[in-house]
Amino acid sequence: MPVITCIEDLRRLAQRRVPRMFYDYADSGSWTESTYRANEADFQPIRLRQRVAVNMEGRSTRTTMVGQPVAMPVALAPTGLTGMQHADGEILAARAARAFGVPFTLSTMSICSIEDVAQHAGEGFWFQLYVMRDRDFIERLIDRAKAARCGALVLTLDLQILGQRHKDLKNGLSAPPKLTLPNILNMMTKPRWCLGMLGTPRRQFGNIVGHVKGVEDMGSLSAWTAQQFDPRLNWGDVEWIKKRWGGKLILKGIMDVEDAKLAVDSGADAIIVSNHGGRQLDGAESSIRALPRIVDAVGSKIEVHLDGGIRSGQDVLKAWALGARGTYIGRAFLYGLGAMGEAGVTKVLEIIHKELDLTMAFTGHTNIETVDRSILIPGTYPTA
Ligand code: GLV
Repeated sequence: MPVITCIEDLRRLAQRRVPRMFYDYADSGSWTESTYRANEADFQPIRLRQRVAVNMEGRSTRTTMVGQPVAMPVALAPTGLTGMQHADGEILAARAARAFGVPFTLSTMSICSIEDVAQHAGEGFWFQLYVMRDRDFIERLIDRAKAARCGALVLTLDLQILGQRHKDLKNGLSAPPKLTLPNILNMMTKPRWCLGMLGTPRRQFGNIVGHVKGVEDMGSLSAWTAQQFDPRLNWGDVEWIKKRWGGKLILKGIMDVEDAKLAVDSGADAIIVSNHGGRQLDGAESSIRALPRIVDAVGSKIEVHLDGGIRSGQDVLKAWALGARGTYIGRAFLYGLGAMGEAGVTKVLEIIHKELDLTMAFTGHTNIETVDRSILIPGTYPTA
């Protein structure tokens, strides 16, 4: 087994261990994938100011996200089909996040259900909501998240319709996978994954199957999902969802200053500057480029978070320096999960924490709360 020192090591391992259809689902963006690539690439030109002979003892990366104490400003992003990267994936990732002291966000489109994760990994994780046409179902989902004492509701605003991802169409993505010859041949090369899946009953969309009339199997479910995501979603919906939920509300998918201002007006607690990991509007700006403009416009009125392209603790620090009070890792944790299950997610968090902690120290800080734009070399980072 190779020595694992960075997220890229885990990505490579996950690519070997996870069936192609699910690895590709995680590791892809829409259309040309230019935004997906830009999210990562645009962190690279940002340069850090090195400081020396500063006391580096007693360092802390602790802070809060929407009032919740966190070991570092990093949460696990909501990702669909997480339980297909590894058997029981959502439960394992939630456990790793809890032990580390960072939030885990369960997707509406998870394999393990809200109740299952609450029972096996503990209550209090965050829940991500997609708005669907069936408002009864959405109300019940919100109530189920409340019953599991979810610490925040993350409302996704950028997926009323789905960005086209070539690989998913070509692979015939479904959960569980259809037993076609190419799928069987590919799965035969992933024995660990197969053993895990054979050993768990969790192989369908847990929040949906059994909760919506007429949805008993995946065939009808994929059709149902395509019909059900609500293309009419608007700010009025944010209002009733906020009211029904009554707890911390985070709005995900804000890339524009005008939308950020509307989000402030909605009374939400935080926004996530996000282009859905480059999976929706290909050609959109990278999230790190959009961040300073949004922070300058609304950062004093609402907590601004960021996702997209974070593959290291250095990326977390750069986003923090540019005003993100929290970041989310999606693919980075999925690689750890696909590679090594719960231990892999723990490894991801350890790697990112170590990189964050050391980089912060090299820039002359011992407490993340004191870090601001002054750790960056002017002219190398995006500005408003
Ligand atoms: C769903 O959230 C997706 O991006 O596939």
